[in-house]
Amino acid sequence: MSAEMPDLQSLWMPFTANRQFKAAPRLLVSAKGMYYADADGHRILDGTAGLWCCNAGHGREEIIQAVHAQMRALDYAPPFQMGHPLAFEAARRLAALMPAGLDRIFFTNSGSESVDTALKIVLAYHRARGEGQRMRFIGRERGYHGVGFGGLSVGGIGANRKAYAGNLMPGVDHLPATLNIAEAAFTRGQPAWGAHLADDLERLLALHDPSTVAGVIVEPMAGSAGVIVPPVGYLERLRELCTRHGIPLIFDEVITAFGRLGAATAAQRFGVTPDLLTMAKGVNNAAIPMGAVAVSREIHDTIMAAGPDNAIELFHGYTYSGHPAAAAAALATLDLYEKEGLFARAARLEPVFESAVHGLRAAPHVKDIRNIGMAAAIELEPRAGQPGARAYEAFLACLKAGVLVRFTGDILAFSPPLIIDEEQIGVLFSVVKTALDSVR
Ligand SMILES: Cc1ncc(COP(=O)(O)O)c(C=O)c1O
Repeated sequence: MSAEMPDLQSLWMPFTANRQFKAAPRLLVSAKGMYYADADGHRILDGTAGLWCCNAGHGREEIIQAVHAQMRALDYAPPFQMGHPLAFEAARRLAALMPAGLDRIFFTNSGSESVDTALKIVLAYHRARGEGQRMRFIGRERGYHGVGFGGLSVGGIGANRKAYAGNLMPGVDHLPATLNIAEAAFTRGQPAWGAHLADDLERLLALHDPSTVAGVIVEPMAGSAGVIVPPVGYLERLRELCTRHGIPLIFDEVITAFGRLGAATAAQRFGVTPDLLTMAKGVNNAAIPMGAVAVSREIHDTIMAAGPDNAIELFHGYTYSGHPAAAAAALATLDLYEKEGLFARAARLEPVFESAVHGLRAAPHVKDIRNIGMAAAIELEPRAGQPGARAYEAFLACLKAGVLVRFTGDILAFSPPLIIDEEQIGVLFSVVKTALDSVR
């Protein structure tokens, strides 16, 4: 990169091989529509919507204007014991998008905070109804629920947990992951195999006694672990078991909400309604940090009714909950989603995206391809003795060729902004194909 390079040493980068990165940095300096640009002005097609979040594409004027106007009118208002109109309006609009019944909205600033908030709301709910003994949570192996201690504890990615293993929340157990390449390699959409894995919930409930279980949390589609699509019937079965035992079901939709699967939420796509739904990322196109939890009326009202009118009902919240700039960005983003029909567009493009990614089945090293909505992953055979090297090198080759993809372990993941067109989908996967051809 020839343009001026900042001093890189002070910044400790998140989830990054810092020393490797700083030896060969990759900086993005601007973005518009489907493209990033680096300091040399190279255009880079965004195959990842940033980090699964810029669903309406980059540099959207409507969002910029809304944030600008809001910052001029009201830069900040305390969210504790005070309010400002846009937070209420953003909550109303979000409630209208959610599955029926999930119409009470708590604002956070990230996916991790949304998850920890949902876990806390569930605990407060049980306590409010005199079932404070319900303290256990059940997550799932390979689940990613952010990096707070709550989310880490219910999460199931070993590398993320390892350094903190001794101090995670007690009383957490995990369902098995649903990915089974031997049974379901190269499935398009939902695998037919695997609904029975939900029955493990029954086993865990029997083991722990259902009356001690506070909640079950899963990503309806696991994104970070490499696009793990729920087997047909699996989420329905989890829902049924949770309902039978009076256990709130939390869908972590930080990645899947706002059109990624061709509907406002994965819950709506799959026709399975949780009791709480966490979101972030696409809520305001990632313009300003923001997250939220949608909560069922029943859970909300139970907590509201548990104390006198002048008492704080939930001892929880963030200085920046419903921040005016974030709320303004959310309203402008929701307008864009609606005006441009981006969720329906994702649904329309899904078959094109699906056939483009599955077109790489015969490419070198490809072990599995999975997809749903506008999300897909290609899992590679690891190079002997060098796990992760192939996907990393393929990622670098794509970037050099002007396409941003995501890699984790030996998995390449794709989740472009929903404004992508058919030609750009073609470019994305032809660059990936060339990259795979070049990797040894
Ligand atoms: C399902 C899920 N939950 C939680 C998170 C954490 O979100 P954040 O990084 O905003 O804290 C993510 C991030 O990718 C996610 O995919």
